[in-house]
Amino acid sequence: MAFKSWLFTLILTSICHALDISTSAAAKQTTGFVTAPGASLYYETYGSGPLLVFISGANGDADIWRPIAQNISTYNNYTVAIYDRRGFSRSALATTTTQNYTQRLHTDVNDTRLLIDALSPGEPATVLGTSSGAIVALQMLLTYPDSLSTLIAHEPPALTVLPDVLKLKAAQTACYATYRAAGIPPAMLQFALLQDPSFTPGSASSVGFTIDTRTSAYLSGNLQYWFEREFLQYPFQDFNVTDFDMYKEKLVLANGKTTNPVGSQYRANEVIANETGLSVKYLAGSHVGYSGTTMVEFAKDLMEVLRGR
Ligand SMILES: *[C@@H]1O[C@H](CO)[C@@H](O)[C@H](O)[C@H]1NC(C)=O
Ligand SMILES: *[C@@H]1O[C@H](CO)[C@@H](O)[C@H](O)[C@H]1NC(C)=O
Ligand SMILES: *[C@@H]1O[C@H](CO)[C@@H](O)[C@H](O)[C@H]1NC(C)=O
Ligand SMILES: *[C@@H]1O[C@H](CO)[C@@H](O)[C@H](O)[C@H]1NC(C)=O
Ligand SMILES: *[C@@H]1O[C@H](CO)[C@@H](O)[C@H](O)[C@H]1NC(C)=O
Ligand SMILES: *[C@@H]1O[C@H](CO)[C@@H](O)[C@H](O)[C@H]1NC(C)=O
Repeated sequence: MAFKSWLFTLILTSICHALDISTSAAAKQTTGFVTAPGASLYYETYGSGPLLVFISGANGDADIWRPIAQNISTYNNYTVAIYDRRGFSRSALATTTTQNYTQRLHTDVNDTRLLIDALSPGEPATVLGTSSGAIVALQMLLTYPDSLSTLIAHEPPALTVLPDVLKLKAAQTACYATYRAAGIPPAMLQFALLQDPSFTPGSASSVGFTIDTRTSAYLSGNLQYWFEREFLQYPFQDFNVTDFDMYKEKLVLANGKTTNPVGSQYRANEVIANETGLSVKYLAGSHVGYSGTTMVEFAKDLMEVLRGR
């Protein structure tokens, strides 16, 4: 059940919200771009109060967060910012500057910091990163702790902290080879099975495995960019788990209540929890519990975790 529909949800949610932008315009507070070296970062904010930033995972796109950002803004406790990471959706790369892809993770970290500096000058922010975005978030905690008041790492696939890292890297590399040889849908299926061996694509999720630019203009490009620039980089980031000890006051480790515990992104948090003495917090839903039917409950769980911090 756990992972069953994360990809499907990710894709369908992206599609729905791509079509939904105009209807949600009433609740929108601000939209803009932050200029970063080599890219322009698209963002939206909702509500008022201290800044809470969401960092996207695989498809890099802000749209999946829009419903929860709007919902959290009704609590009147946070300005919620969502944004497209560089190279995804509306955050275009500059045509006149080269990207340094050996520095890609640190560039992503710098981008998040620039966004915080622009939206909350001189004040640290609460940041929640999920999946690949949780790798960005964890690296940000190590690089710019002063920019953060609380950092929530939601299911980071931090393979290097796990005892079976070599096996996991080999399996991830095999998925990438499938992507190169046979394209995104079969590679996605292989990847889904890695995270949850009980995953079975039903007829509905088979639809989700078809990347059709007629239903979402960004999806195909986003997933291709993710495979090329992050799939074998972010999960392989060489974290030393003891480095997190120093920042544990700011760190919240969060996993999905219904995520399959065998997945690397779930186990990584357990290892970091063991090292730091923190306890893992459980938020509604599975890997993409912040969207779809578990969104309202996820928002409640998150507010509960943040209350009094
Ligand atoms: C949004 O959040 C509130 C709590 O502030 C909740 O009661 C409500 O059901 C949510 N609304 C929607 C449309 O999700
Ligand atoms: C990218 O960054 C690395 C590490 O800082 C550096 O060694 C390399 O020269 C850079 N490459 C380009 C093309 O700027
Ligand atoms: C990140 O920003 C810092 C501070 O501005 C800068 O020194 C560093 O080179 C940047 N790193 C990358 C990869 O752009
Ligand atoms: C991790 O960091 C600790 C403390 O700085 C150090 O003693 C240890 O050797 C490091 N481990 C690795 C694998 O680099
Ligand atoms: C956590 O630590 C306990 C005790 O050392 C160990 O038995 C367990 O396997 C560890 N769990 C993880 C996920 O590292
Ligand atoms: C919102 O902020 C107020 C004032 O700080 C606090 O009393 C309340 O518990 C907060 N609510 C949530 C949901 O965090």
